[in-house]
Amino acid sequence: MSTAIERAAELLRAGGLVAFPTETVYGLGADAANAIALRRLYAVKGRPADHPVIVHIPADAGLDAYARAVPDVARELAEQFWPGPLTLVLLRRPAAVTADAAGGRETVGLRVPAEATALALLDAFGGGIAAPSANRFGRVSPTTAAHVHSDLGDDVDLVLDGGPCMIGIESTIVDLSGDSPRIVRVGAIDVAALAPVLGDVAVGSGAAAPGTLAHHYAPRARVELSTPAAAASRAVAHTASGRRVALLALTPPSVSEPVIVLLPPVDVEEYARVLYARLRDADAAGVDVLVVVPPPEVGLGIAVGDRLRRAAASSVA
Ligand code: TXA
Ligand code: MG
Repeated sequence: MSTAIERAAELLRAGGLVAFPTETVYGLGADAANAIALRRLYAVKGRPADHPVIVHIPADAGLDAYARAVPDVARELAEQFWPGPLTLVLLRRPAAVTADAAGGRETVGLRVPAEATALALLDAFGGGIAAPSANRFGRVSPTTAAHVHSDLGDDVDLVLDGGPCMIGIESTIVDLSGDSPRIVRVGAIDVAALAPVLGDVAVGSGAAAPGTLAHHYAPRARVELSTPAAAASRAVAHTASGRRVALLALTPPSVSEPVIVLLPPVDVEEYARVLYARLRDADAAGVDVLVVVPPPEVGLGIAVGDRLRRAAASSVA
């Protein structure tokens, strides 16, 4: 085992905070059973105490160590999609997951990430690691170790570098703790792929679901969504009013200077993978407005569109 992984596991045991790569985004990890570590995690994130975090569990752990009254459908989904970007919300086992990781709820979101460094860390630690995305609350999620360093600085004890995240968009979350399943957050696993197991399932947070604020995933620049046809004229209108403007689209229209055309992704998979990095690029370039043409609303495009709408919603808030 690498010394970096060993050191990371030791830090977690001592109540420290370790950022690590997953296939979706980088997580900011703490021992899920340690209430004090969790309080520090929430303070560093700037996250309200009633917003639960996702608990990452070792590949061989078995659901019952972390959840109770596990329904068959949860076992089927875990069998089919883990390791992978699917989070299952189940009734929490208090000894394995402190109430401080669950926003005080009876439930917990669990997942086994499909990323070698994350799995090695979970294996070395041998327990659940509570890990929200490793950014400050409400801001853009990190998809490289450099993003984590620039967001959190010295507030994190160690950052494990696994290179850029393979998927780039957070996990899909299914709540199985109630009478009927509900998709709490669309994400890296297409809801259509869950249908063979879940059947027709409600999508949407419902009134009681936490942490699904419309305004989230926001860069400093104002995000404006556009159709392909209107993107160029919108961008040009902003520059005419003296604003610095960038444009993000799969197929950017030709626009004259001074609009900054961000490097276009080649397909929806790459759109997901580079989305958060491009939002950060826009900020680094000091733009006032980012005009974005979302990808078609199919497959991964649904989750990309969801994140872009939230980024745009916080822009006008
Ligand atoms: O891909 C991901 O899910 C990444 C990586 C690091 O695993 N994690 C992530 O965590 O996106 P975070 O904290 O940024 O978002 C977790 C969201 C919460 O905002 C909340 O909506 C939902 O997960 N969640 C967690 N526990 C829940 C629970 N017990 N009930 C309902 N929703 C829950
Ligand atoms: Mg997050």
